[in-house]
Amino acid sequence: MTGVPKSPSFETIVERRLSRRQALKGAAGASAWVALSGGSLFGLSGCDGAVKSPPLTFAELEHGYDETHHVADGYVTQVLIRWGDAVLPGAAPFRPGAQTKAEQDTQFGTANDFIGFLPLPFGSDNSEHGLLCVNHEFTVAMMMFPGFDNRWRTAEEKTRAQADVEVAAHGHSVIEVKRVDGQWTVVGDSPYNRRITGETPIALSGPAAGHRRLKTSADPDGRTVLGTLGNCAGGVTPWGTVLTAEENFGLYFYGDQDVAAETAAEERRNWASHNAGFAWVPDHDAADPETAPPVRSLPSFYGWSRFYDRFHIEKEPREFNRFGWMVEFDPYDPQSVPKKRTALGRFAHEGTTVVAEHGKPVVAYSGDDARHEFVYRFVSRGSYDATNRAANMDLLDDGDLFAARFDADGTGEWIKLELKETGPASAAESGLSDPGEVLIEAREIARRLGATPMDRPEDVETNPLTGRTYVMLTNNSRRKAEETDAANPRAENLWGQILEILPPGEDGARDHLSNTFAWDLFLLAGDPNHPETAKQGSYHAGVSGSGWFANPDNVAFDPEGRMWVATDGFPGNKTPAGDAAPVHDGIWACETVGENRALTKHFFGCPRGAEMCGPCFTPDGTTLFVAVQHPGLERGSTFDNPSTRWPDFDPDMPPRDAVVAITKKDGGTVGS
Ligand code: FEO
Ligand code: CA
Ligand code: CA
Ligand code: CA
Repeated sequence: MTGVPKSPSFETIVERRLSRRQALKGAAGASAWVALSGGSLFGLSGCDGAVKSPPLTFAELEHGYDETHHVADGYVTQVLIRWGDAVLPGAAPFRPGAQTKAEQDTQFGTANDFIGFLPLPFGSDNSEHGLLCVNHEFTVAMMMFPGFDNRWRTAEEKTRAQADVEVAAHGHSVIEVKRVDGQWTVVGDSPYNRRITGETPIALSGPAAGHRRLKTSADPDGRTVLGTLGNCAGGVTPWGTVLTAEENFGLYFYGDQDVAAETAAEERRNWASHNAGFAWVPDHDAADPETAPPVRSLPSFYGWSRFYDRFHIEKEPREFNRFGWMVEFDPYDPQSVPKKRTALGRFAHEGTTVVAEHGKPVVAYSGDDARHEFVYRFVSRGSYDATNRAANMDLLDDGDLFAARFDADGTGEWIKLELKETGPASAAESGLSDPGEVLIEAREIARRLGATPMDRPEDVETNPLTGRTYVMLTNNSRRKAEETDAANPRAENLWGQILEILPPGEDGARDHLSNTFAWDLFLLAGDPNHPETAKQGSYHAGVSGSGWFANPDNVAFDPEGRMWVATDGFPGNKTPAGDAAPVHDGIWACETVGENRALTKHFFGCPRGAEMCGPCFTPDGTTLFVAVQHPGLERGSTFDNPSTRWPDFDPDMPPRDAVVAITKKDGGTVGS
């Protein structure tokens, strides 16, 4: 930990947590499982031993759609950090439209998504001082640079210097933050502050490291990748590391699959299918044959292959295989080398939730955010040692990967992903040769073993109080009527649903290591008055006209076990009729058990064009951090003429992605 202040021992933190967990266990018979949901290390803090959560009493926000953000009455918001703000000491001032790569390397990146709050000093449950760990998922050149008004031309016409800025705007930021007199501030000269970008050296680790399909001309050993890309959501481990998920990596690559040496593998998994239909691409809401690139090519969303051979699959066919992993790093050690944990499989990782109990294997739940893809669970070979931080640091390198099958009778099974002697999952029929390749092509083996194709699995998170695990399924416009099933019951599903996995056992003592489970539809999103939405598993009958939402994406649980859902329904949650006024993305909250189960209430709304990401509570639940992503990204809006200039509203500033801290005016917990 070069240059970083000394922290209290890991044992101290563990003792505190264990004693709190034992109090919980004594009071309610709850297990000692710790779920690291919502990006907070201390999911159980504030718990009084009851499995049932206290009611949400805030006055509900109305649906809306305008240039700025909104929060429920009684709360205050503070913009904490924006794209272009300083992360590293000595960072250059933000020069919109004229940034250099060297400048962006030191500044907060674009498209803030996942947020994790890790208390300082390490080992405390401090809610006023910590490390805020934030993903930067993507760049949109039309909103970053002047002069562009067409998405496809942007990829063709951007300059090398602009592409370099884009690479630097990706990845992750670590910032030290402090709450002083109620106001959150960034500690500008902190030795913890760090940028991870699309060029930071990252180790491949686990079973697929060094695999022949991960070797490139720049890295003949197949063990070091430059950068992490498409960092969507993530997670925080009980041992105080951050997980950052590589999601839509297909967008960075370009080339003719018929020419590339990896042809068979790329065709096998249809990587382009999700990306080509990307709803947030202005100008390209639906496939446009006039302006889209050739169908046979992987999408060239970024055009980086014009400058970087490694993103051109005909020149460097295997670089593509080195993205799509879950990356783990230690934010308390700014010198630490992040690791791509290949044991968790390769797919469009949305995020992950780690669930752990001392002396038992660790579980990591993950969603693959693409249409008709799967929900995954990793189980470590080694056991979590709550008394020895160092012993946990590579737990995610060795274990078994499973994908979920949801049966119509409300039960399900975690199917272990491995080659079989005979049948569709055999080496002969699948074309997969070894365990490393099974991880590289996790989608392929999961499909061959009968996992259930889902409606775009986003966050998968465990309620720390009950142990029930929730899957945000955001939408699937391409599900045909004959493809519907009990877990994905709607054809051409525009609105999404939330699925509830019930590992065996009672609330508070559920067994995440079991390979079988029960499941339920927690709610079908969309307007509850629509006949399709009003079917099984929909909202609580008391939901208000502003209490419904569409397109659940991220989720966090507050310290009292209440669910906070962030939506991604750009450009505004679509109503079933499709012709009503758009509704902003934002945050909706509800209880998950008891009489108010699924009674969702609207809490926060984004400025127009933005989606909501990263909900994350401090350990005591008094601050909720949210990430407003891509404000002003909607049809007809550009850097030169944006539909909003949130959050600065300065004619010289473009709209900027930003983290917002939400607190209650009376200082109480958020939601109370
Ligand atoms: Fe990047 Fe699945 O949202
Ligand atoms: Ca997401
Ligand atoms: Ca989350
Ligand atoms: Ca999203």
